[in-house]
Amino acid sequence: MAVSMSRKRSKPSRKLEAREPACSCFTTLCNFLSRISAAIFLLFLIYTWSSFSTIITGKVIHVCVSSRKLNNLYCLSAGTHPTFEIPISIKNSSSITRNFTEHANFSTIPYLISSRGAADINKDEEVANAIKVVEEQLQLHRSWRSDRKDGACDGQGLYVYDLPSKFNKDLVGQCRDMVPWADFCRYFSNEALGEPIPKLGKRWYQTHQYSLELIFHSRILKHPCRVHNADDAKLFYVPFYGGLDVLRWHFKNVSGDVKDSLALELLKWLEKQRPWTKNSGKDHVFVLGKISWDFRRTSESAWGTRLLELDKMQNPVKLLIERQPWHVNDIGIPHPTYFHPHSDDDIIAWQLKIIRSNRKNLISFAGAARPDAQDNIRSILIEQCTSAGNGKCQFLNCSSGMCDEPESIIELFMESVFCLQPPGDSPTRKSLFDSLVSGCIPVLFDPFTAYYQYPWHLPEEHVKYSVFIDQKEVKQMNVNVVERLTSVSATETENMKRYIVYELLPGLMYGDANAELEKFQDAFAITVNNLFERVGRLE
Ligand SMILES: *[C@@H]1O[C@H](CO)[C@@H](O)[C@H](O)[C@H]1NC(C)=O
Ligand SMILES: *[C@@H]1O[C@H](CO)[C@@H](O)[C@H](O)[C@H]1NC(C)=O
Ligand SMILES: *[C@@H]1O[C@H](CO)[C@@H](O)[C@H](O)[C@H]1NC(C)=O
Ligand SMILES: *[C@@H]1O[C@H](CO)[C@@H](O)[C@H](O)[C@H]1NC(C)=O
Ligand SMILES: *[C@@H]1O[C@H](CO)[C@@H](O)[C@H](O)[C@H]1NC(C)=O
Repeated sequence: MAVSMSRKRSKPSRKLEAREPACSCFTTLCNFLSRISAAIFLLFLIYTWSSFSTIITGKVIHVCVSSRKLNNLYCLSAGTHPTFEIPISIKNSSSITRNFTEHANFSTIPYLISSRGAADINKDEEVANAIKVVEEQLQLHRSWRSDRKDGACDGQGLYVYDLPSKFNKDLVGQCRDMVPWADFCRYFSNEALGEPIPKLGKRWYQTHQYSLELIFHSRILKHPCRVHNADDAKLFYVPFYGGLDVLRWHFKNVSGDVKDSLALELLKWLEKQRPWTKNSGKDHVFVLGKISWDFRRTSESAWGTRLLELDKMQNPVKLLIERQPWHVNDIGIPHPTYFHPHSDDDIIAWQLKIIRSNRKNLISFAGAARPDAQDNIRSILIEQCTSAGNGKCQFLNCSSGMCDEPESIIELFMESVFCLQPPGDSPTRKSLFDSLVSGCIPVLFDPFTAYYQYPWHLPEEHVKYSVFIDQKEVKQMNVNVVERLTSVSATETENMKRYIVYELLPGLMYGDANAELEKFQDAFAITVNNLFERVGRLE
């Protein structure tokens, strides 16, 4: 891990739910960021392949990630508010004026953090404590895993609020100006699955990575346990499209009050609902299709809304594609992939196809280098990959626009045994799920990418489905990733691949809106069943 320790004398605190802004120390940086023009921001969304650097600072723990997608520091905080200094260097970015509708030139992007004096985090007690806390939370989440069958409602009704349209449908209606460079409307066709990708076969769609709110909503309206009378319900679904709400402000110069207004209106509306007040929201659930940090704006940063920082939002469960690792009611669920089966047969057909797929590359990496990101291991990985010889490692250069089409990535992953998944904009990556769905064994470099995120969909025993290589070792050049992966035995490889394809894969994808799955539980079914288990424990 790229870390930099800024130690203070203060004792570590084990207080978990930090409500204080996690980035209050970054005033200079944040002011700077808020002045950067919208043009830069859009780059971060165009590119899902980007860089990441973790900083861990003293006084309890804050893992701060510099994020191209966010153009901000992504601070995961477990503790009281920080008062220490963080080493930051900002390159002069005033030269960044270009037409970002063309392919991004990453060498022109300022790298926001450079860390000083990397330390061995494993030796650090505070970090160890914070990690322990994350692991305890994941154990709790795992204890809510349920093996109930769909449709076995057992009197546990699910109520879906019929929200005023401004909280969901009207946001979809703003798809044309959601972001300045693209028309999002096409992503919302086919009940938000996007346009079909015939080249990849049936049930493949150009799904946008932020479409989960819509996909989940369509499905939950058809859930067999849905009840129309709130009195019959145990679980309450609030179909607020909070991710779309925040997305439409990302590239507009508006005040925090404007950004928060819809979230505050929603809470006002909820407070008039009896079920919400009855259990203080504990039996309510939100699905938010963006990463947690987008909803945790601090006083110094202009980025995002404060939805998840509001007191009234602490009790409900929030399902997110990336959780804040120290908030127990944030639960990670898979990023949506491009594959959306309708039936068991669709899943079986896909499993057969990828288990037999000719994996002519031992390794592949689809991504872009980060020449400005000193802490990022991507350049090292690219160097190791391209110099491997014998066609062992295939590099798909996302800097040159080769990753724009979903099919180029999926086809590469289908032809590869191992897929390198270094951290992206933030710790998690949609690409992780693309590789699993393609039957390619992910190689992870940071535990926050998957192991600390998805307790309901990925098993604790991560050796079953992934190879872990600590990014610190890569950075110190102690390990050659190609050599390491070459030494994995054929039996191990085969076992992992079979586990991924037969055990994990069905539960990692979201079926289409009318999916009729009987043999399999998809990511949606697993999630809803576990939510029932969790509300059952509240009583
Ligand atoms: C960036 O460089 C330009 C030209 O060299 C200079 O005028 C400007 O003040 C610099 N901006 C920052 C933030 O340092
Ligand atoms: C960006 O470049 C494209 C293609 O060259 C052009 O059509 C478009 O108008 C440009 N956009 C802006 C905002 O300059
Ligand atoms: C990217 O930007 C750098 C620095 O401005 C420049 O030297 C390089 O030619 C650019 N690359 C491309 C592909 O435009
Ligand atoms: C954003 O809006 C504020 C208030 O209207 C204005 O002072 C500021 O210059 C604007 N910033 C940009 C980058 O347009
Ligand atoms: C990837 O593409 C970029 C832009 O075309 C180029 O500058 C870079 O050298 C390429 N990287 C490799 C390893 O080929």
